[in-house]
Amino acid sequence: MMTMHELRQEILRLKQELGVCILAHSYQSPDILEMADITGDSFLLSRMAAKSEANRLLVCGVRFMAETAKLLSPEKQIFEANPTAGCPMAEQFSPEEILAEKAKYPDCAVVAYVNTTAAIKAVADVCVTSSSAVEIVKRLPQEHILFIPDCNLGAYVQANCPEKTLHLLQGGCPYHSAVTLEEAKAAKQAHPDALLLVHPECKKEVSDLADYVGATSGIMQFAKKSSAKEFIIGTEISIVAHLALECPEKRFYPMANRLICPDMRVTALADLYRVLSEIAQGTAQELVLPKEMMLPARHCLDEMLRLGG
Ligand code: 13P
Ligand code: SF4
Repeated sequence: MMTMHELRQEILRLKQELGVCILAHSYQSPDILEMADITGDSFLLSRMAAKSEANRLLVCGVRFMAETAKLLSPEKQIFEANPTAGCPMAEQFSPEEILAEKAKYPDCAVVAYVNTTAAIKAVADVCVTSSSAVEIVKRLPQEHILFIPDCNLGAYVQANCPEKTLHLLQGGCPYHSAVTLEEAKAAKQAHPDALLLVHPECKKEVSDLADYVGATSGIMQFAKKSSAKEFIIGTEISIVAHLALECPEKRFYPMANRLICPDMRVTALADLYRVLSEIAQGTAQELVLPKEMMLPARHCLDEMLRLGG
């Protein structure tokens, strides 16, 4: 059996020998982030997947992130560190349901949160991440927007783009949207000197209490740059630990201890080692998407990048 030190050394050796670039979402554990070449939120990962010069990408996160990497770099080999990791929000609606909604608003643009399957992206006009949603919606020529699937992010976009009319579905992140106003108030009461930083996947009544609302990268940058010393973190609790490591002179508290995404937790160092070993042996399972889906889904991501997302 390998020691943890040997396991890390093997992962570093294999990824270098095989020319594999490891991308990890910020919600991954510190030991995974340490092995990664690129870490960041969905916005940064999608940008870097498009730019990376490596021919093989290993994605540590959830499936839609690996699918996004494949759509943006179809010529590359994309591997999922743990193929069981999915995002429940990404699969809340079928393409047929989205097309039926779209038919109700003939002149609308269908704007899909990047947390969607490739099949959903294929029936949308443009993708957004939580970092870029407001700016991209503002730049669209259409007044009517069918925003899918997250109604909380959609409500946040509507509040920041009053000139548009957003039509929302009842989708969203089961973990961010589960946090109650009472939990947010209790966290503020327990830490009266702390600033509250909230992800827009949370309910509007929770975001309304916040000193700052933004995506994972925005929350992290705000906390790092702020002169304040204490922060309540209103997103996945892994960010509390990451910020505490990066800013040891500041204090970070979770808004709710139960704000945990189980799918973001299933990837372990052993998965990275297994997939890299399989790549070396030629037995690794590459992510493959149906050909007919690739072009329309890619268009939706290209539009996101063109509009500045
Ligand atoms: P961002 O990475 O865009 O902040 O989204 C958070 C999230 O829930 C990822 O699935
Ligand atoms: Fe999906 Fe929510 Fe997990 Fe993000 S935190 S991957 S939106 S379930």
